[in-house]
Amino acid sequence: MGIESSCDDTSAAIIHNGKVLSNIVANQEVHAKYGGVVPELASRAHQQNIVPVVQQAIHQAGITKKDLTAIAFTKGPGLMGSLLVGTSFAKSLALGLNIPLIDVNHMQAHILAHFIKEENGKIPPFPFLCLTISGGHTQIVKISKHFEMEILGETIDDAVGEAFDKSAKILGLPYPGGPLIDKYALQGNPKAFSFSKPKVGDLDFSFSGLKTGILYFIQRNLKENPNFIKENLEDICASIQHTIVEILMDKLKNAVKHTGIKEVAIAGGVSANSEIRKRLLLAEKHWNWNTYIPKFEYTTDNAAMIAITGYLKYLDNNYADVSVKAEARLKVTE
Ligand code: KG4
Ligand code: ZN
Repeated sequence: MGIESSCDDTSAAIIHNGKVLSNIVANQEVHAKYGGVVPELASRAHQQNIVPVVQQAIHQAGITKKDLTAIAFTKGPGLMGSLLVGTSFAKSLALGLNIPLIDVNHMQAHILAHFIKEENGKIPPFPFLCLTISGGHTQIVKISKHFEMEILGETIDDAVGEAFDKSAKILGLPYPGGPLIDKYALQGNPKAFSFSKPKVGDLDFSFSGLKTGILYFIQRNLKENPNFIKENLEDICASIQHTIVEILMDKLKNAVKHTGIKEVAIAGGVSANSEIRKRLLLAEKHWNWNTYIPKFEYTTDNAAMIAITGYLKYLDNNYADVSVKAEARLKVTE
């Protein structure tokens, strides 16, 4: 069983021989009206959700508690209060059932979700590159073995998910705004407005300038036309999304050029974005890349990715001691 509680989703999943039997995710609606995740409310909601979510995962998998062979949980990175709920629950369950406890790095899990066995699913060969894009991270990682990872480049300020969410907030959309920008962008013209791209190292990212650029652009236009957002929402969203995805693709192209590796995966919440998915498929055709795009349910936070990572560690007898602690800050390489 995998348990995920690093941010605002409470999730439990059961995996058997690399195949997912159940993957239950309880989203926390409570944060939408605050424009972002409120840590105290998140940990309280995890406490309320964790028992029913775990029970449902067991029930849907068609097993009983006694069939479980190990408990994997997210050790970090994430919000400390949220992590503590999953960590202490996993410890108690493993102790109670007298089975191994396995600690999982959430960022590694986003990447290792590609090793979930799916019908007609492709599993990336080593070494491969992964663009890890979420609300907290933006990295290009080289994966040489399951647990041998190297960060080739990363954001020097905001994560790409933040760029989506903060842009959405400027447009008056609720949190998390990424999926809404994606939705409105489908109806818009991506070339309607242009935003300047950041100038940073070949493999690094920066999104804070883009966010400020978008803010000034909107303020300027609202002065002339108070209905500017309403009248142009689709075009604005399409243009923002297009700029962000162009930045991501430019960096991926650089990474492929630098490493000579053409096996390219995406992972994390933002890999649900329809344009990045489309562009990656085009890259298969035009540049001969082999690309690996996760199923939607394994893009945003979920416990199936924790369970598969736990399973891979289980095969190595790589267990945690009951003294293991949650860690709010944890690199993908740790
Ligand atoms: O991986 P995740 O669930 O949580 C973190 O570990 O951060 O990622 C959440 C992020 C949010 O910023 C959300 O807006 C973004 O993923 N996201 C999207 C889409 N779906 C989720 N961004 C753009 N387009 C989407 N379709
Ligand atoms: Zn995540």
